[in-house]
Amino acid sequence: MPTEAKWWQSAVIYQIYPRSFADGDGDGMGDLKGITQRLDSLASLGIDAVWFSPFFRSPQKDAGYDVSDYKDIDPLFGTLGDFDTMLEKATSLGIRVIVDLVPNHSSDQHALFQAALKAAPNSPERDMYMFRDGKGDSGELAPNNWESVFGGQAWTRITEPNGELGQWYLHIFDSSQPDFNWENEAVKLEFDSVLRFWLDRGVAGFRIDVAHGMAKAPGLPDLKQNLSTMTGLEDKNSQAHPFWGQDAVHDINRRFRSVLDEYDDRAMCGEAWLPTIEKMAKWVRPGEYHQTFNFNYLETPWDKAKLETVVNESLIGFGAVGAPSTWVLSNHDVIRHATRMGYDKVPKQGDGIGPNYPQPDEAKGQRVSRAATAFMLGLPGGAYLYQGEELGLPEHTTIEAKYREDPTFFRTKGERVGRDGCRVPIPWEAHEPAFGFNKTGESWLPQPASYQRYARDTQEGIAGSTLELYKRLLKVRKEFDMGNGELIWAPEHASENSLAYKNNGVLVLANFTGSAISMPAGELLATTQHDLLVEEVLEHDQVVWIKL
Ligand code: NOJ
Repeated sequence: MPTEAKWWQSAVIYQIYPRSFADGDGDGMGDLKGITQRLDSLASLGIDAVWFSPFFRSPQKDAGYDVSDYKDIDPLFGTLGDFDTMLEKATSLGIRVIVDLVPNHSSDQHALFQAALKAAPNSPERDMYMFRDGKGDSGELAPNNWESVFGGQAWTRITEPNGELGQWYLHIFDSSQPDFNWENEAVKLEFDSVLRFWLDRGVAGFRIDVAHGMAKAPGLPDLKQNLSTMTGLEDKNSQAHPFWGQDAVHDINRRFRSVLDEYDDRAMCGEAWLPTIEKMAKWVRPGEYHQTFNFNYLETPWDKAKLETVVNESLIGFGAVGAPSTWVLSNHDVIRHATRMGYDKVPKQGDGIGPNYPQPDEAKGQRVSRAATAFMLGLPGGAYLYQGEELGLPEHTTIEAKYREDPTFFRTKGERVGRDGCRVPIPWEAHEPAFGFNKTGESWLPQPASYQRYARDTQEGIAGSTLELYKRLLKVRKEFDMGNGELIWAPEHASENSLAYKNNGVLVLANFTGSAISMPAGELLATTQHDLLVEEVLEHDQVVWIKL
């Protein structure tokens, strides 16, 4: 007998970036009260779960990915009581809540790191993190040549309690984010307890930050080539990277999983930026993660052959370990796909787009991103959406330097502008202060004037709007249970420039470039091409869903 499908295998999970979703107290920073007030809008969108980027206590040096207390809410976002209220409301709406766990590093303000700074070299306190003596006559050189993902050295030298310069600590990200030592059992116990804290509170699971980075190669060998990216490898087949994707990380995966399995029906998704799907699939083997983000899919452009390949590789690669694939096009670390797809070539992940970079073709970005979404949401497996994409929200590509907050910007002295452009507060009402983000008009990052055109209230109930397109796709996806379906390519319905697949009684047909194609017969279930009639033709960069 087939085993019963689990909720996460087909779920559409919507990422809330708490700083920028809705601001209840009007201080310009989003918060839990604001989110709770706007949850109905997500129920009407038709998603199954929300994943929250971190709202834990944090000095906010990396927008909350620098956690100083994993078991409390930062006052910027509210209180644990506000969290419980939000969870209750979400549950009543049938929405599951997933929180972000950041186990690779803490904030330098975390009590454990502060204790390590005060303790002596080689003490148990220091052993919670990655402290090492420097090289050179007086330890003045970093222990190895690793660079931070955000730019600059991955090591910072401390002043010892006696006032003298002393050891160095490792930080794969900002200097305010010291890496934990995951060889230390005390670190593992600490995180067992953090997981249980949130599971006991009722969360449906976790998105695990930097899930490929916690284990470091013994001896911390120098890197041959520093790329400062989340995968670190230019050559997909090159030797193992000393801190991305080390084999020892799988023991940590299994440890997390064993805690989740103490509870019913919870799931975790790993942020594992591995260069190939084959490697990524190791993260979702039995006893490890339930899901991993399919970043290879995210990085695939709107191109018939490339999409066909990545879908096949995903279904085969994840299928080989018994896991469904996930699909994703946007998140808080990448250029929004409505903008990305308005370019022929985009800057590499994490670099962002600033005012000096050539600006995108907005119309093309809208057209292609809608098509790309309609292609993606028909696929079997889980799907991740990033707040605002349901509005077709573009990246803010002209943020002035004075507003920048991403550590990447500061660590590279502005050479890489970073990820702020995809993190701007989203627009709700076109004619309200801060486009309805709050009532005061304050906004921690400035919103571009164009966001007025994308505000939710300008799209609600408007035929052909991106918001209505998302609602329709999600509704049909659910009705036909496409998340649990099976993809079958349908070349008999495709032409040279188009791609077609079937899934649970729905034909998804995408026309990529060049000339229009004729439509197959059948009931039109959803279309990116507004006002399309069955007897008409499908233009380029358009997708239809037809009932078979
Ligand atoms: C990945 C997160 O998605 C990103 O926003 C963060 O800066 C790094 N991990 C470090 O935690």
